[in-house]
Amino acid sequence: MNDRSQSGTERSGIATNESHGTLGSNGDLVTFPGKNEILLSANGIRKGYKIGRKEVEVLRGVHLLVERGEFLALRGASGAGKSTLLHLLGGLDTPNSGEIWFRDRNLASLSARELARFRNEKVGLVFQSYHTLPELTALENVCLPARIARMNCSQAEDLARDLLERVGLKDRMDHKPVELSGGEQQRVAVARGLINSPELILADEPTGNLDSRTGQEIIELLCSLRVERNATLIVATHDSTIAARAPRIIELVDGRLGDS
Ligand SMILES: Nc1ncnc2c1ncn2[C@@H]1O[C@H](COP(=O)(O)OP(=O)(O)OP(=O)(O)O)[C@@H](O)[C@H]1O
Ligand SMILES: [Mg+2]
Repeated sequence: MNDRSQSGTERSGIATNESHGTLGSNGDLVTFPGKNEILLSANGIRKGYKIGRKEVEVLRGVHLLVERGEFLALRGASGAGKSTLLHLLGGLDTPNSGEIWFRDRNLASLSARELARFRNEKVGLVFQSYHTLPELTALENVCLPARIARMNCSQAEDLARDLLERVGLKDRMDHKPVELSGGEQQRVAVARGLINSPELILADEPTGNLDSRTGQEIIELLCSLRVERNATLIVATHDSTIAARAPRIIELVDGRLGDS
């Protein structure tokens, strides 16, 4: 990866490992020396989509600092831009303007190959619409990120079996997505997002299709893996009982973030 060696103060006012801090409501940097390491920072993120001649502005200057190991719930009305923001933070899409830093790496400075590696090794993205591959079994779907990361087949399968068991799909490992319910596919997506022990877990409505008990179990799993691995967890959710589990809740309103 193409790490940049600039000091924190040269980075558009974003807090870094050296200058731990938070962004004030006006986007200015407020520093708290001695606080935990900043894993992720977003500064002035704007994102819009052009549909024909019309431009829809979804994110209008998002500022966010996330410490390593934090658990955040991301809330906001349907269409507020939660999925858009998670995709940007995970390097799946690029902002129209603004910067996203993962530790001392500006995602915009990474080549396509470096970005693919970053996503594979550092980020576990649990997609709202699962994105499981239809021709692969649940086990093969979960193994895929590990195989891409060049883990050998039997080690990947051991990890995948363990995760599938933990999400309650012990008896569904050889099923293809078409043979699974929506909630079961969602749990496959959760297991797949976790197999490479990502430092950053971005879960987009991970319980949206689950009954409340299974939903609670999935959140328990995400929380315990976060603690076991000192991972950082951001969960977009409409579910207030899940959001209430998070020590920090952030809310997207009118394209901007506020803590609530
Ligand atoms: N690829 C795209 N092209 C055009 N518009 C898009 C695209 N992706 C998202 N949008 C628009 O951006 C807005 C935000 O979408 P997004 O999916 O981020 O919302 P959300 O907060 O995740 O909503 P939900 O709670 O329903 O999942 C929506 O109005 C959507 O129509
Ligand atoms: Mg969404």
